[in-house]
Amino acid sequence: MPDPTDSAYVPSLSGWTWEYGAYDPAQERLRESLCTLGNGYFATRGAAPECAADTVHYPGTYAAGCYNRLTSEVSGHAIENEDVVNLPNWLPLRFRTGAGTWLSPDTHKVLDHHQSLDLRSGTLARSLRYEDEDGRRLAVRQLRLVHMGDPHLALLRTEFTAEGWSGHLDVESALDGTVTNTGVERYRRLASRHLTHAHTGGSAESGTMWLRCRTTTSDIRVGLAARTTADTAVETAPGRDDGRALQRMRVALTNGQVVTVDKVVALHTSRDPAISDPLHAAVDRVRRAPRAAVLLDSHRTAWRQLWRNADLDVPTSAGPVLRLHLFHVLQTLSPHTADLDVGVPARGLHGEAYRGHVFWDELFVLPYLNLHFPEVSRALLTYRYRRLEPACSAARDAGHAGAMYPWQSGSDGREETQELHLNPRSGHWLPDHSRLQHHVGSAVAYNVWRYCEASGDTEFLHTKGAEMLVQIARFWAGLAAYDETLGRYRIRGVVGPDEYHEAYPGASRAGLDDNTYTNVTAAWVLIRALDVLRGLPDPRRRDLCERLALSPDELVLWEDVSRKVHVPFHEKVISQFAGYGELAELDWAAYRARYGDIRRLDRILEAENDSVNNYKASKQADVLMLGYLFSPQELRALFRRLGHELDDCLWQRTVDYYLARTSHGSTLSSLVHGWVLARARRSEAWAYVQEALAGDIADLQGGTTGEGIHLGAMAGTLDLVQRGLTGLETRDGVLRLDPVPLPELSEYGFAVRYRGHWAIRLRLSAGKLRITVPASDHGPIDVAIFDRVVSVQPGESRTLGVSHQEDAVWGQPLTE
Ligand code: BGC
Repeated sequence: MPDPTDSAYVPSLSGWTWEYGAYDPAQERLRESLCTLGNGYFATRGAAPECAADTVHYPGTYAAGCYNRLTSEVSGHAIENEDVVNLPNWLPLRFRTGAGTWLSPDTHKVLDHHQSLDLRSGTLARSLRYEDEDGRRLAVRQLRLVHMGDPHLALLRTEFTAEGWSGHLDVESALDGTVTNTGVERYRRLASRHLTHAHTGGSAESGTMWLRCRTTTSDIRVGLAARTTADTAVETAPGRDDGRALQRMRVALTNGQVVTVDKVVALHTSRDPAISDPLHAAVDRVRRAPRAAVLLDSHRTAWRQLWRNADLDVPTSAGPVLRLHLFHVLQTLSPHTADLDVGVPARGLHGEAYRGHVFWDELFVLPYLNLHFPEVSRALLTYRYRRLEPACSAARDAGHAGAMYPWQSGSDGREETQELHLNPRSGHWLPDHSRLQHHVGSAVAYNVWRYCEASGDTEFLHTKGAEMLVQIARFWAGLAAYDETLGRYRIRGVVGPDEYHEAYPGASRAGLDDNTYTNVTAAWVLIRALDVLRGLPDPRRRDLCERLALSPDELVLWEDVSRKVHVPFHEKVISQFAGYGELAELDWAAYRARYGDIRRLDRILEAENDSVNNYKASKQADVLMLGYLFSPQELRALFRRLGHELDDCLWQRTVDYYLARTSHGSTLSSLVHGWVLARARRSEAWAYVQEALAGDIADLQGGTTGEGIHLGAMAGTLDLVQRGLTGLETRDGVLRLDPVPLPELSEYGFAVRYRGHWAIRLRLSAGKLRITVPASDHGPIDVAIFDRVVSVQPGESRTLGVSHQEDAVWGQPLTE
């Protein structure tokens, strides 16, 4: 397993900076993703401003929720895809010395190169020295930000220094509306031109230029404006060339003297509230934007405030990696997200993989946000609520009841999963059945419930939350068909979280029966829906039941299904689905020996004219996901209600069984296995946690991070530290803790926001957990450890023993 601190991945690690040395074209895509800057509203990859998109560079800019549909021709079929749109590139700033050519690291000598991402202040710095054709040296220092305080602004500051010569420098600043979506090699044959009607303009006196365009089918209008200024006398000339706004300046450089060029940029789209039109809003905003130093200052303040609400203090080598993960989570889902109609994009706003779609990955993200930025969680759940009607229509169209949430969701909540996917190994376009992952509905319900538990937001639970829970429960109850022979309800024809298995061997129909994860989470949703209905104030219950035409018989059915949904077993373990036990064993050693990396076993087998459907081989955790979602007590109770005794032996056997049969073809897999193994108190846990930490920084899934980060896995590692290893739960209005510190990760601290209390500090160290509740006029909080409850008053700190051997003193404050 990789060590995330290995210098092969990260040349320099320190608490708050992430440093890269020499320019390395082969690493550029990965660095661009990892050096993306964003503010929840939009993000821009860390691409070099003097380079256009090509095989090395990909300067993408994405605004949250900005999608467009295009039709492509694939193998004779017309295929429609919705993509997050690569917006006009605001970065371009190229330069040349004297009469030379435009300088680029790919065509000119780079004497030294250094790039540094400052997590504390959300800035990306770059310094390099170019040597031109005539041997003249030019030092370039750049600093950029995507403003965290004003989400429509960005800044690129460039300092030029002539070394050993004096003369002129030509600088060209641009806004480029000719960009397309070509960031993912696999999608290259698909239509990619999402922007049209680009118009540009500018004014030489004010140093501003603008660009407006719109998306081809979603008709989102985009306005960009930029003000480029130099701190020395310049000759300027606005310009334009097809779809690009240009501003050219000639700057006089004197040996050793620094000349600074600032480019301040504003971005608006027609999705923004409180604007008349995006172009005027952008031009106005850039005109009023303060100078660079002031912008930098307010940006740093905004980041300082964010960190105060979210920082994790992990003193070991995992600390800087976790902080980088947190940085990217906050850049994708910041407090600004609370005002937007957007979901959780699986690959952040960092690239075009998975087309910017929203999957079940929010299951790995919201539990973290709930305890820091509950208003952001609420907005993300509201994105799902606004798409409840389309989910109900999708269920109706498929002959089902309730709400069938799409596996992949974009603008309007319709199913966006592609119908065909490309196996790059074989070159075959294959049918994609992943839309049968109806368990995404349970993820939505789970997040509703956990958000409300953590925040105490009963208003949401009793309104939008209740409606979603009821409709998702309805879907499950409708899908569950009673089997007289088994005396159980069966949910058939689905795909579980392990995406490898889409059908039974040789079957012409896609889908599997009795997927345990789907069934157990469905039972949980039914129980929660019944709970919420019971807890509703009478008038609200009456309104809801009337509106949704909910009959008492339905509730009786829910109760019954929640007790009798089928859970299959084989070889004394829980089956992933009915019939899993009859699949062939794969010769894992032989495949590893032949292929080395077998994470994408599905592609390998398909290219061999075989199918992963034939084997006991999983891409990622499926049954074991249950150990990720539920505490051991909660899971045992769920199984007991279903008539099964889930004792430690059964769970351990099941863990071993699937561990030996999983290829970890998703970054989510090592995270979930690390979490589950930590709780099973197993020494292998740390190796999986390390892999989860290294997933993006070391690009373990082989080139995928360059197409966008894996947001679920990044947020999941934060939650592993926050909830996984502390056993923190917010069930029944009590803060429950059941710590299982890993020897390698046993000392750390973090703060949570819980039911109106800001910054409750928790610190684990030397077998103790210290909890500090800041002074406020809120009531005390109940903290439960090993079933003993202590009450901690605002303004009070308590230290509790955290070793299972110390059961006798559990829950007793050791010091106060
Ligand atoms: C995983 C899914 C995940 C998706 C988006 C896939 O590789 O198998 O579980 O939802 O990526 O992150």
